[in-house]
Amino acid sequence: MTDLDDVDATAAGFGDLYDELPLWSAPFGLMLLDRVPVARGLTILDVGAGTGFLTVELAQRCGPDARIIAVDPWPAAMRRLRRKLEHLRLDNVVLLEQDAASLALPEASVDVVVSNLGVNNFENAGAVLGACYRAAKPGARLLLTTNLAGHMAELYEVYRATLVELGQSDRLAALEAHVERRGTVDSITQLLGRAGFEVVDVVTGSFRMRFADGTALLRHYFVRLGFVAGWKAVAAPAMVEETFAALERNLDAVATARGELALTIPMACFEARKATAAGP
Ligand SMILES: C[S@@+](CC[C@H](N)C(=O)[O-])C[C@H]1O[C@@H](n2cnc3c(N)ncnc32)[C@H](O)[C@@H]1O
Repeated sequence: MTDLDDVDATAAGFGDLYDELPLWSAPFGLMLLDRVPVARGLTILDVGAGTGFLTVELAQRCGPDARIIAVDPWPAAMRRLRRKLEHLRLDNVVLLEQDAASLALPEASVDVVVSNLGVNNFENAGAVLGACYRAAKPGARLLLTTNLAGHMAELYEVYRATLVELGQSDRLAALEAHVERRGTVDSITQLLGRAGFEVVDVVTGSFRMRFADGTALLRHYFVRLGFVAGWKAVAAPAMVEETFAALERNLDAVATARGELALTIPMACFEARKATAAGP
């Protein structure tokens, strides 16, 4: 069949790369993988590829004739992705370690653009999507997933009450600004439209992240990696420690009352296209 049907689960280093998928990426990625075109010969651009969950999956699902271009300016993630590609012996992937806003791909050279959980992280989302649009062929598809406004509403409700309790009502506006950073279906549709893409479908859903209590939540590795710094930036600088102690206590009380601390994550998968030269 191929010379690759010999995965050796006993090889040195096998365990390092076996269970490599960031859990946070998975529910969004599954939505996207359910809808993305898969075919031989496609050129697919993965924007904000991170450690390459989609890159690696698409490189395999579309087969060796497809070419996946993974773009991300984060050196540690690109290093990790490079190791995975070597380990998996995938040679149909090109890595570009850079800001996607300054992509210099040939115009109209990409069949599909994907981005899993990228858009909230792009400081210059308009410029990134503009660069994707230029690289996309007429008729190309774009599949983009993101968490939406309403993300972790249960936590923010407790955080609001905690700020008031500690006499930090003047920080509520900072909290709202932080909450509103997440887009809505309308705002992301408009963002894509400004870049030139026409949204043809939006699928929404949600999942829950469940924790025993606030103590568990605030110590969870991924929560610390992805969220805690942003939450801390909301509190008055001289009161961060006190605010977090109170937040933990209040989240613990909610968990006691409800039997657990469940946070809702609303999500969406946008499918858009670049119009063909002859129009829609
Ligand atoms: C939440 S991670 C998602 C990673 C990956 N797509 C996944 O699903 O696991 C967001 C990624 O966007 C990348 N990013 C942020 N700004 C970027 C930019 N201007 N151009 C390309 N990637 C960017 C970050 O470095 C990070 O790897």
